[in-house]
Amino acid sequence: MEKFIVKGEVQLCGNVRISGAKNATLPIMAATLLCSGISVIHDVPYLRDIQAMQDILILLGAKIRRQGHTMLIDTSNVSKVEIPEHLMREMRASVFLMGPLLGRFRKVRLSYPGGCAIGPRPINLHIKALEKIGAIVDESFGFIDAEAKELTGGEINFDFPSVGATENAMMAAALAKGTTIIRNAAREPEIADLQAILNKMGARINGAGTDTIRVDGVARLVPAEHTVMFDRIEAGTFLTAGVMTRGDIVVENVVPEYLFSITDKLQDIGAKIITGKDYIRIKAGELRGVDIKTLPYPGFPTDLQAPMLSLVTIAKGTSIITETIFENRFKHVDELTRMGAKIKVEGRTAIIRGVEKLTGAIVAAPDLRAGSALVLAALAAEGTSEIEQVYHIERGYENIDKKMQALGANIVKL
Ligand code: EPZ
Repeated sequence: MEKFIVKGEVQLCGNVRISGAKNATLPIMAATLLCSGISVIHDVPYLRDIQAMQDILILLGAKIRRQGHTMLIDTSNVSKVEIPEHLMREMRASVFLMGPLLGRFRKVRLSYPGGCAIGPRPINLHIKALEKIGAIVDESFGFIDAEAKELTGGEINFDFPSVGATENAMMAAALAKGTTIIRNAAREPEIADLQAILNKMGARINGAGTDTIRVDGVARLVPAEHTVMFDRIEAGTFLTAGVMTRGDIVVENVVPEYLFSITDKLQDIGAKIITGKDYIRIKAGELRGVDIKTLPYPGFPTDLQAPMLSLVTIAKGTSIITETIFENRFKHVDELTRMGAKIKVEGRTAIIRGVEKLTGAIVAAPDLRAGSALVLAALAAEGTSEIEQVYHIERGYENIDKKMQALGANIVKL
């Protein structure tokens, strides 16, 4: 089991280039199944979740080649429509494959994507959306069989703006007969990135980024070339690390507009922000506690709740953090407590009383974003920390140790 050894109390200084977004790349890789031929995707990060999606596409018959951060996906010989159980378990984002496989082959079979560390992760909204455009879905014996004689445009109204369900609906509707309207759609920037490549493939989709998306179905799609947008969550994690270590860092290759809810909160905490066209510079100030409530975009992102909670453990005063998106996303709290943080969790709310300093300890990453929160805490803590189970962190952060070292951090992977 690999682990990080981190010597704390180091101020991060310098520039870091943000990688392509995991949560844009995964649906985009799935979308290439909608056509036959070679799609070219640039700025694809090296992450465990991307590798898992690659393994599934290859198993379905795709051929994939990587040249640096470019990925070529040849879907000419894709013929299988069943996703095996063990790969579903490895990465539940394979649920993104339902829409494309239904769209192209009118059939898909996958095992029920289990929950994960942060919650039960139901897919009822995905299934309801696909049924609205003609899919017959049978869920039994832990499997989901979806089939459609014909996919016809329909009206989809989401009870909750689910990111994955919005993306699945867009991909299936792209090849349906007629027009589909998706209301109460998720507005995350990754959805606009998916719309961009789908339209390059010949789809006719408008409205991504707003709460209503219109899809005019077409007969077929063709391969495309696309550069993935930057990873908002990686950028937010590094900005938070810069503040927590009282450093001075610049995150490059970003769209500042997409980070507004994070930079606004960091300023409330006391950071100084300088925003450029495609970079943000952040310097720490006197840290004071704030209240945060996670919400669908453009609200504060749930994926940055853990790093932010880490930060406010050493901010003056009391902070209240409410997690409204996932049921069980405070697994970093126990580990931070071992490092001297003062935190009380009551249901979906954490109350944090700021302390002068954290102290290094042996901790274990419980999930991807909780793991990143522990890295930040270790960088700021007095003394040395060991962070075990770093494979969780490497699901979503490309070379996080090397990027932190380049900013001056004393972190090594054993
Ligand atoms: C995406 O997950 C992201 N993953 C998550 O990032 C992110 O936290 C989440 O969106 C919210 O922004 C990818 O894009 C691969 P949702 P997704 O459907 O699509 C409930 C990370 O750390 N829900 O918007 O699964 C669900 O239980 C990951 O990178 C239903 O009830 O998120 C949750 O409470 C973690 N029924 C809420 O909606 C459904 O059918 C948000 O889920 C679907 C979702």
